[in-house]
Amino acid sequence: MKDSVFNYQPLTRAIEAIVFAGGSDAREAKLVAENLVLANLLGHDSHGIGMIPRYIDAVLEGGLAPNQHPKATLDTGALLALDGCKGYGQVIGREATQMAIERARQHGSCVMALGNSHHLGRIGHWAEMAVAEGLVSIHFVNVISHARVAPYGGRDARFGTNPCCIGIPLPGEAPFVLDYATSAVAQGKLRVAHNKREKVPPGRLIDPEGRPTDDPRYAVIPPFGAMLAFGEHKGYGMAIACELLGGALSGGGTWHYEESTRQRVMNGMVAILIDPKRLGTAAAFEREARLFLEWLRKGRPAPGSDRVRLAGEPEREMRAKRMREGIPVDDTTWQEIQRAADKVKLSREQLQRLAKG
Ligand SMILES: NC(=O)c1ccc[n+]([C@@H]2O[C@H](COP(=O)([O-])OP(=O)(O)OC[C@H]3O[C@@H](n4cnc5c(N)ncnc54)[C@H](O)[C@@H]3O)[C@@H](O)[C@H]2O)c1
Repeated sequence: MKDSVFNYQPLTRAIEAIVFAGGSDAREAKLVAENLVLANLLGHDSHGIGMIPRYIDAVLEGGLAPNQHPKATLDTGALLALDGCKGYGQVIGREATQMAIERARQHGSCVMALGNSHHLGRIGHWAEMAVAEGLVSIHFVNVISHARVAPYGGRDARFGTNPCCIGIPLPGEAPFVLDYATSAVAQGKLRVAHNKREKVPPGRLIDPEGRPTDDPRYAVIPPFGAMLAFGEHKGYGMAIACELLGGALSGGGTWHYEESTRQRVMNGMVAILIDPKRLGTAAAFEREARLFLEWLRKGRPAPGSDRVRLAGEPEREMRAKRMREGIPVDDTTWQEIQRAADKVKLSREQLQRLAKG
């Protein structure tokens, strides 16, 4: 199946136009579009513009409310609890993270609990905001959407792809940003694989009878099987930690429902921001981090690998490539986006004109 290739700037304008036509104000439409296109630029197509059809369906169903801002239910400085008001995660996540950054700078750290936000997209986006201000940023997130992941030792899907993320500013170089779903593969990547009619590697999926399968359809269309957590019992444990912290401790809610047909994707998040300069270990942190990274990089690459990388590097490499060469979008995804535009009465001609620049 062929891909269309878009330059990121016109593609952003096209996505912005759909979100705007869906009832968002101009600022929100811009933030949502920029966030999604950035995910594509970084190579995470699962969290890029392919989310737009779901967002528009969620708006039309009333599960996603345009033009919301986080409301503080508790704000003691180092402890911050926020209600995301079902708003676009691209706005709620940004404003919540800005509030947490201000408090961490003032108090040395901030524990931020955010419930009831619509899809927060790439969680690394929020860690990157904090890291850019010199803060360590740790995130546990749950997903209220569909149960798609089976517990270790289980056969039935019981929770979502619950991502976690750790961002650490590094002396003299770009930050460490570890950011992944606790499922062996992100749900959206299976959607992309299904759209491209690709198989998935072993160990990611089981069919409805609990048998291993390489067919992404079992994660995308009924009858559903289940995804597996990464790293067997270890990844499974992290997924549960994300549900208990991101879902329960955030106040947003955990997954305990039979299957839902609704299109909204809610995220709960607990984020812990730490100012390393305020912990009294700043000099050691800088020295030891540098020495460790030098030591790490003196190791030999494995056969088939050009070099050892740190988390965050593959995304930066992909960003440089896609800014140069454009963003490939598969035909199925683009058709789904066109149908989303139809639903909010943005003409396909206008969408195409904007996307091609
Ligand atoms: N909002 C939600 O509900 C939700 C749910 C699930 C996932 N997500 C997001 O989906 C995105 C993709 O998740 P994923 O699980 O597919 O990610 P992934 O499996 O691609 O892993 C990405 C992480 O691994 C690192 N990495 C990749 N290759 C590396 C290498 N060679 N050396 C060192 N580090 C390397 C990356 O820098 C990154 O930190 C994430 O941004 C995540 O936050 C969001």
